[in-house]
Amino acid sequence: MSDASTCPLSSLPSSSPSSPSSCLRAGRAADLAPGGRKLVFREGAEAILVMNIDGRFYALDNSCPHAGASIASGSCEGHSLSCPAHGLTFDVRSGQCTASPNLRIRTHDAQVTDGELIIRPNEP
Ligand code: FES
Repeated sequence: MSDASTCPLSSLPSSSPSSPSSCLRAGRAADLAPGGRKLVFREGAEAILVMNIDGRFYALDNSCPHAGASIASGSCEGHSLSCPAHGLTFDVRSGQCTASPNLRIRTHDAQVTDGELIIRPNEP
């Protein structure tokens, strides 16, 4: 089991649980099978959508940069996630909108450490 006081993704210490820059423990990686997705909630910041695509984990803000809709229920084909509100698609690897260079969803680092899915939020 990892030390709860240290972020397993880096040598940086994790901050308090309410800090948006803290590493987030998102549960056992084995519980999120390929094709699965889940929301990770954090205090004072946007929820993070975590997706398993072909065994790789991706994490991005659960907010569409077009008009703020939740993207959690959007359909996904390959690495393209469609916003359910108006249909814009985003590459989950980069967060980049495929139709507009000006729209991008913030992505976060996702890693499996000791079988645990760890998210390190990237803040603006
Ligand atoms: S809110 Fe996502 S495409 Fe409009």
